[in-house]
Amino acid sequence: MSGWRLSRHFLGSTASVREARRFVTAFLNGWPIVEAAELIVSELATNAIRHSASGRFGGRFLVTIHVGRDRLWLAVLDEGGPRTPEVLPDGQEDEGGRGLLLVSTLADSWGVDGDEQGRTVWALLSTEPAAAMQAASCR
Ligand SMILES: Nc1ncnc2c1ncn2[C@@H]1O[C@H](COP(=O)(O)OP(=O)(O)OP(=O)(O)O)[C@@H](O)[C@H]1O
Ligand SMILES: [Mg+2]
Repeated sequence: MSGWRLSRHFLGSTASVREARRFVTAFLNGWPIVEAAELIVSELATNAIRHSASGRFGGRFLVTIHVGRDRLWLAVLDEGGPRTPEVLPDGQEDEGGRGLLLVSTLADSWGVDGDEQGRTVWALLSTEPAAAMQAASCR
């Protein structure tokens, strides 16, 4: 996927969720999909902190924004661990399980790469090329 791409590390603490969200807002300001992108990164960052080794003392996670001509790729790389990202089956929502469900609803596709050494949870959103060009020209 051509286009431009930016990544940033964040400390694996809850305060970083807001920072990661601001990172997305600053980059995609003016795009019609900015709100969806913010929600997705918030959920993925929260999960990295809560469910992976990124949440341990000194842990961190990496957020990547990759903009193509007609699509936006968002990814959060964590520090891995024994658990696996998955949409929980119906009936478990009382105990959580809304985050990845929301991501799967907002994104055109999403997935997980990696293993217990580190996982990338990514989401792909389609976007209008015209919107992308307009946003770029406003920078
Ligand atoms: N980055 C991750 N690394 C390891 N496991 C993960 C990761 N993200 C999610 N999971 C696993 O997938 C499950 C579902 O994640 P999801 O975000 O849907 O729900 P939740 O985080 O448990 O609750 P909620 O997001 O509603 O507060 C989690 O309970 C966890 O077991
Ligand atoms: Mg979650």
